[in-house]
Amino acid sequence: MPEEQKKIIFSGIQPTGTFTLGNYIGAVRNWIKLQEEYNCIYSIVDLHAITVKQDPAKLRQHTLEAYALILACGVDPEKSIAFIQSHVKTHAEMNWILACSTQFGELSRMTQFKDKSAKHPDDINAGLFTYPVLMAADILLYKTDLVPVGVDQKQHLELARDVAKRFNQKYGELFTIPEPYIPEIGAKVMSLQDPTKKMSKSDENPNACIFILDDTDTIIRKFKRAVTDSDSEIRYAEGKDGINNLMTIFSAVTGDSFEKIERDFAGKGYGEFKLAVGEAVSEALRPVRENFARLMQDKEYLKKCYSEGAQKALSISQKTLSKAYRKVGFVDFK
Ligand code: AMP
Ligand code: TRP
Repeated sequence: MPEEQKKIIFSGIQPTGTFTLGNYIGAVRNWIKLQEEYNCIYSIVDLHAITVKQDPAKLRQHTLEAYALILACGVDPEKSIAFIQSHVKTHAEMNWILACSTQFGELSRMTQFKDKSAKHPDDINAGLFTYPVLMAADILLYKTDLVPVGVDQKQHLELARDVAKRFNQKYGELFTIPEPYIPEIGAKVMSLQDPTKKMSKSDENPNACIFILDDTDTIIRKFKRAVTDSDSEIRYAEGKDGINNLMTIFSAVTGDSFEKIERDFAGKGYGEFKLAVGEAVSEALRPVRENFARLMQDKEYLKKCYSEGAQKALSISQKTLSKAYRKVGFVDFK
């Protein structure tokens, strides 16, 4: 398909530590697949990260690592645009424009805001509250058609759609209305220790979460300790949250259907299945570990990639920002 007819994809991930298996299966793995058919733009969203307290030295390190990680997972800087959000000033500028088309009431309804303010009651800052506006700016600046995310971001995406429609109505057509792209399997990978909760980087129990750079032994040990039900049948069924989660993970990394998994593991115990899941996950992540180690040795290459990525992102997004400025009535200069 000619480049200019391809649809546009945008997604972002926060540099708040090594990605989890949930980030990988729910989001980043799909970013890679989409590169062939779409014009893809991917960002390490460091502006979003400072809505919760960060140690500056760690944030800088995590941002570089997150950038290396998306390349290690297979984002190809020749095919896609990969950049660091704070390098592209249009995001903060568009954030302001869109904030003036977003209602206090709709931001108050965001479940992530409620969760995060309950978690950090001593720092319920304005950035945390307006976080979804910045996310809308990220997306709308590039005339994005599709946004690949895990299911936890669906509400933010709906807000971005509402804000885009409202702006278009108020000032005339400018923004494309983006659609979510949520995977059928693995849109919400659950904690290995409490399979009713999302797998999250910030879980206090280190066994709850697989990090994509964990070594084979660590991965297998965590899966062996995964919480399951008292039944012993490997079957996808209501109430079997632990096994359902393990089956989802296995299916996501091997491509096997639930029926095939049930057949292959009929009569086998949970122990054997957990080991198989651990081995499959570790194998799937092997190239990521190897690529990451190599990329982190080559800071110059990373710098070249993120600098070029930022330039390309700026040139596209500046056009949309200039149009928005004109539409709201700002005086042209230059
Ligand atoms: P974050 O780590 O919050 O920046 O999330 C980055 C991406 O990973 C977003 O698209 C999330 O929806 C997705 N994600 C985060 N945790 C999970 C999970 N446990 N299962 C599936 N997707 C997830
Ligand atoms: N809010 C997203 C998350 O926490 C990250 C993000 C920021 C994002 N901007 C985005 C995702 C734009 C998709 C598109 O996971």
